[in-house]
Amino acid sequence: FGPTRIFYPLYLAKHQKNQYAETSAVMTFSFAESVLVWFDQNGRKDLPWQQNPTSYRVWISEIMLQQTQVATVIPYYRRFMEQFPGLATLAAAPLDDVLHLWSGLGYYARARNLHKAALLVCEQFDGQLPESLEALQSLPGIGRSTAGAILSLACGQKQAILDGNVKRVLARFHALPGWPGQAAMLKQLWQLTEKHTPDYRVAEYTQAMMDLGATVCTRNKPACSKCPLLTACKAQKTANPAQYPSPKPKRSLPVRDIHMAVLLNNNHSVLLQKRPPAGIWGGLWSLPEFESMQALYQWCDAQGVSDPEKANRTLPELRHSFSHFHLQITPHLMVTENPVIAVMEADTTLWYNMDQPQRVGVAAPVSKLLGQLSNQLRT
Ligand code: ADE
Repeated sequence: FGPTRIFYPLYLAKHQKNQYAETSAVMTFSFAESVLVWFDQNGRKDLPWQQNPTSYRVWISEIMLQQTQVATVIPYYRRFMEQFPGLATLAAAPLDDVLHLWSGLGYYARARNLHKAALLVCEQFDGQLPESLEALQSLPGIGRSTAGAILSLACGQKQAILDGNVKRVLARFHALPGWPGQAAMLKQLWQLTEKHTPDYRVAEYTQAMMDLGATVCTRNKPACSKCPLLTACKAQKTANPAQYPSPKPKRSLPVRDIHMAVLLNNNHSVLLQKRPPAGIWGGLWSLPEFESMQALYQWCDAQGVSDPEKANRTLPELRHSFSHFHLQITPHLMVTENPVIAVMEADTTLWYNMDQPQRVGVAAPVSKLLGQLSNQLRT
């Protein structure tokens, strides 16, 4: 990217227009300035986390937005802020309450990390989110880009970000060959994002880059004619700007087959078990899960379910995909007249009443299965 000959006085106020840029006779293309001018006209300025952008509020929004669209996040964010308006309330809450608020957002490790990080901030940083890149990155769930986003958006520090949107904008602007998951490309992208980040209006610049990636420089069919970077974009000079960045090399994912026991009592309740804290659906409630039918029958024996095949209904198989494998689930509906199941651990088992569901976090495919069962029971 070409030299920037514009002199930006450091004393320019956050919202002040840069008159030097507008009147300069030797104006060359400035990446940051073009993005900021575009932001003034087109950027998003009324998102809930942009109101009173404290580091706590920005942190929660950034975590929610990591794998989820803005429109989906907004109602979750509002509910979260109502229940946990500050870091101390989050740290004081039971993890189950946090997971319950998170139900439906997916990627529950995010919620567990938020809770763990809130406790650590109370222990190590006196209840205040730290204001350095290193300290923020020491907290679970906060990577380099999220730390950069918190410090730039909430504290106005000059810190770069590199989320998926920014990677795409930069890979296209510089027509970088390769896939951003490769270490060499990632390093190059970090150097570029740091170089482009301006000394002034850094919060707006950060938001602008996210917005540009989300609304103009989209993955498919980018709206190049609306882009403030159009004239200097290298991808634009190729036949297909959307070819950048290269997609991740494909590999087929393994399939894991499991059986789930859907044990129903005569009170419309289904037996759930709490997943261990680490691993998939960690800390969420799920159905008892088995690698084989033999293991399922052994468990039934141990629970005193005498005839596992007695239920006269079946539930369809379902597939749930994770980033590194597919889970193929075969549910087995069973009924028990005697709801007192022997040797139960009170804090890791739960009779989940489908007519009055408890406020707990339930793994997504299990929610789906319970919904189907509840519909069947009504008909
Ligand atoms: N995605 C990640 N952070 C965001 C933000 N602050 N606004 C909109 N989308 C985002």
